[in-house]
Amino acid sequence: MAEADYSKKEKNYHTGIPQKSEAFFLKGSNAYDWGMKNRLARIFNPKSGKTVMLAFDHGYFQGPTTGLERVDVTIRPLIPYADALMLTRGILRSVIEPSVTNSVVMRASGGPSVLKELSNEHIAVDMEDALRMNVSAVAVQVFIGGEFETQTVNNMTRLVDMGMRYGMPVLGVTAVGKELTRDARYISLASRILAELGASIVKTYFVPDFEQVTAACPVPIVIAGGKKLPEREALQMARDAIDQGASGVDMGRNIFQSDAPVAMIGAVRKVVHEKVGVKEAYEYYLDMKNK
Ligand code: 5RP
Repeated sequence: MAEADYSKKEKNYHTGIPQKSEAFFLKGSNAYDWGMKNRLARIFNPKSGKTVMLAFDHGYFQGPTTGLERVDVTIRPLIPYADALMLTRGILRSVIEPSVTNSVVMRASGGPSVLKELSNEHIAVDMEDALRMNVSAVAVQVFIGGEFETQTVNNMTRLVDMGMRYGMPVLGVTAVGKELTRDARYISLASRILAELGASIVKTYFVPDFEQVTAACPVPIVIAGGKKLPEREALQMARDAIDQGASGVDMGRNIFQSDAPVAMIGAVRKVVHEKVGVKEAYEYYLDMKNK
């Protein structure tokens, strides 16, 4: 039985204090419902407004990628340093302990392997399973200009419709086919199309004149790391991307293929969350590597 309120203390309604109603911190995300915003706030740190996503979903089309042959061995030590883990549901269920508290961005498209036409993807995860695994967003590859452009756009818009029903953000990845030039013109076109069609987050590649890409995209952009670069160059790319309006990184090979992955993800965090310059971040990387 509920107890009556017998407190002798006088009630205080704080009538002089208006209830605060603050805008949501993340670009373009103010109109979402509570659940969607809460999921986004688990991916993007509300204090810095940024995220360090660790991408290790490469196996969904290229099998045991270098550095990911044993995710349990190589990725586990990095988990405490990532805000979000980008992975497949197979790896989530088979390797990642359910006690991890990082947010999860789950790969939700797939189909062809590296042996086939990569743009021929379909939706590869049911929204119900994504909810069952308590993920914070689902990720879908969209091949603007690719052979199966319309099919992959359709994959994304169907996920956006399902995501809106349940408060699940969709991260759209601008996948660039071999025949397309990665420049600001193409990346702006692709990113803007994904945002216009409902992606809550866009993942794309860092290119010269990136501030034009972020300016024209009404939702947060995170950059993919791409092929492994020398650590200092990868940190410079992260610094430039953040300075030019990116809301974070979704980095894979430049972290897990580094000579010192824990040191590297720590240095990336400094760049993304602490506004640290490249020189200082690289020195941190070397210090940590040599410890
Ligand atoms: C595959 C992806 C990957 O998650 C992403 O590109 C991997 O990150 P990186 O390029 O930093 O290794 O979206 O298309």
